[in-house]
This record gives sequence, structure tokens and C-alpha cells, in this order.
Amino acid sequence: MLNTLTSAVLLGAAAVSAAPAAWGPMSNWGSGGDSHSSSTVSSYSAGQTPFTFPLSNGFPTVSAAALHDIEEAAHGTLPNGALPTEINATSAIVLELIAFNEAFEVAFFTSLIQNITSNVEGFQIDSQVLRSFVLETLIAVQAQEQLHFLGANGILASAGQTQIQPCEYVFPTACLDDAINLARTFTDVVLGTLQDAQNTFATDGDSELVALIGSVIGQEGEQNGYYRSLLDLIPSSNPFLTRSAGQFAFSALNQDFVVKGSCPSVDNVLFNAIPILGALTVDTQNIQLKDQTLTFTVESNSTDFSQYSVVFVNQQNVPVVEKITNVKSSDGTITFDAEFPGADLIMDGLTIAAVTKTAGPFASVPEVAADSLFGPGLIEVN
Ligand SMILES: *[C@@H]1O[C@H](CO)[C@@H](O)[C@H](O)[C@H]1NC(C)=O
Ligand SMILES: *[C@@H]1O[C@H](CO)[C@@H](O)[C@H](O)[C@H]1NC(C)=O
Ligand SMILES: *[C@@H]1O[C@H](CO)[C@@H](O)[C@H](O)[C@H]1NC(C)=O
Repeated sequence: MLNTLTSAVLLGAAAVSAAPAAWGPMSNWGSGGDSHSSSTVSSYSAGQTPFTFPLSNGFPTVSAAALHDIEEAAHGTLPNGALPTEINATSAIVLELIAFNEAFEVAFFTSLIQNITSNVEGFQIDSQVLRSFVLETLIAVQAQEQLHFLGANGILASAGQTQIQPCEYVFPTACLDDAINLARTFTDVVLGTLQDAQNTFATDGDSELVALIGSVIGQEGEQNGYYRSLLDLIPSSNPFLTRSAGQFAFSALNQDFVVKGSCPSVDNVLFNAIPILGALTVDTQNIQLKDQTLTFTVESNSTDFSQYSVVFVNQQNVPVVEKITNVKSSDGTITFDAEFPGADLIMDGLTIAAVTKTAGPFASVPEVAADSLFGPGLIEVN
């Protein structure tokens, strides 16, 4: 009986093989299919080797002994109480997205630890005291992310739902500062997306999961305060952190990190449920807290952007809708401008930009995501 996370994690593989028909024929994504957005990472710089699982401890499939070692490294355990044996189908998608994201995070932090440990150029830390503290911190984080992944999959297993398996990943970062800056940016996206997860669980009959997600939000916030400190930023970015939505998180992961076609076919359950938006590149660099014009690029065969808008999501405020101006197109590459009211609305921290089909107005971030064609453009101010 799969009634605790530990037993669900250890028996998870058996639960998967018991019901393959549920996801076998869905689509060809996992076998090199190409029907999704062209913005997904399909090539990477020469010399860059994609990160592949399993880890040396067997992760994502762990023995009881390996799980115990992960828990010691994580400074704590999977929750040991009873698990739901039934969850809403929407909740299952949310937990699958959480597992999908956590698998990427495990890959990222494993790569980062390896780079620092082996003094890869760009990742050397001269101060031995700082080097050992950064490593001690990241080793705990890497183990904690493994438990977040195993925990989400364990609930899915207990409820008889499809469990997510890792893909292959590439990272755009080649030095420590960039890697920590990336970590704080994707952690900000996670912190916003978990708000969406809580909202789903609270409203679709699975409110017993809300507190668990709250414990993870706090945990990821602790991590982010440390990444921000390393970047010489104050640990707490805003009074109310920016809201996100599942589509934005899933699009960013696939646009930026997941090697196209590398995901096992079980993950089709997510690819079939959540659309991947077109990539929205923020061209303006080093954005400061002021009202200013920002420039963006997308790949599109349509040059008629006259009905579209740029929408900015920051903190818990009503999404800001701005006109698209100065549209220029060349061979499928479209650049355009939009006004960013940074100083006016004190838009510190993460801002999520998206191109929507309409000018709204949008009362909530999920409404923005549902109307989006391109995004998320991720802007960090201070
Ligand atoms: C680790 O270093 C390699 C080689 O420079 C780089 O490609 C990769 O992105 C780095 N990993 C991280 C997480 O930055
Ligand atoms: C599942 O959630 C949806 C809303 O997302 C709701 O309409 C439906 O009633 C829920 N199903 C159950 C069994 O609670
Ligand atoms: C633009 O059109 C070409 C030819 O039909 C197609 O191959 C390409 O995928 C399209 N690009 C986008 C971004 O839709």
C-alpha cells in the first residue's frame, strides 16, 4: 500500500510499469517529434555536453539506502504522513510540472557543484572559506531538490498518476556569477509558479496539499535570499513576490534548458497539457528601476502585431498592458518596443513579460498566460 512518501518513492518505479497504456500512444515528443514550438532548445554551443541522468546515487530511481543518504545531505526527510490515494486531474498536472522543474534544478545544481569542485574556468572561488561554504550550501540544495522531485512523484504514484522522468539539459551559463544569477531568476519563477499551484490545490478539492507547497515556497525563498546575497543584492527582493503561471514556467524550461526531443514519453502527459509559448527575448540589457522603453525580439512569420500587446506582471499587482510600437521585421525575426513603467510602479524584483493576443484587460496572471503567444520574457531589477 503506497501510503507514505518514502514507500511511494521506493515503489514508484513499480507503479509506473503497472500502467504504461495510459501514456504510450499520446504523441511523438519523446521520440524526436517536432510538432511543438520552434523556440525549444534544439542546438547548443559546440563543446557543450548535455547533462544526463542518472546521478551516481541512481537518482531519479533510488534505493532505500540512497534515499537515506539524500535525506542526510538534505538535512531532513520526505514527509512521513499518509498520502492522498486520489487527486484531481488538474492537481496531477501541477505536481507533474513541479517534478519536471525539480528534475531540471537537480541537473543544474549537480553541474554547478561539479564545476566549482573541479575548478572549471569561470567557476573558481579563490577564498577557501567562501568556496567551502558555497559548496556546503549547494550540496544541501541539490539534495533538497532531489527530495522535492521524489516527493512530487511520490504523491503522483500514491494517487495512481503518471510520474515525471528527467530529460537532458543544457545550461547557458559559463561562469559562477552568471550561474548564480540564473539560479535566482529561475527560483523567482518557481516562487511565482508555486503560488499558482497552491491556488489550484485550494480550489480543486486538494487543499490538503496547500501547506506542503507553502513549506517548499519558504524553502526556495531561503535559497534565493542566499543567491541574491552572493550577487550583492539585499536578500528579500519585494514585500510581495511576483505571481507566475504554469504556462510561463513550462515554456521557460523548454525554451532555455531542455534538449528538444530528450524527454521520456511519460512526460508527454505534460507536453499534451501545457502549451509551450514562443520565446520572447528581452533585448534591453541591464534594466534599471526607471520608466523606459524596452526592446524585444520574437521569431514569427506574422508581421501584423497591431492587435497584440506586451503585458508586464510584477509582484501581486494587476498586470500592466502596454502598446507594441516600432515593429520591424526581417526574415521571420520581429523586433518591437513597449513602455516599461518601472519607476512609476516600483517594479523591483522579477517582472514577467508576455505578448498577448489582445489588450485585455487582465484581472489575473492565469488570464494573461491563457492569452499569451510569446513569453515569458524574464526581467530582474535589483
Ligand atoms: C559547467 O561548466 C560547463 C563548462 O563551462 C558549462 O557548459 C555549464 O553550463 C556549467 N554549468 C552551470 C550550471 O553553469
Ligand atoms: C477538479 O477540479 C476542477 C477545477 O479545476 C473542478 O471543476 C472539479 O470539480 C474537480 N474534481 C473533483 C473530483 O473535485
Ligand atoms: C515560418 O514559416 C516556415 C515555412 O512555412 C516554417 O518552416 C517556420 O517554422 C515558420 N516559423 C515560425 C516561427 O512559425
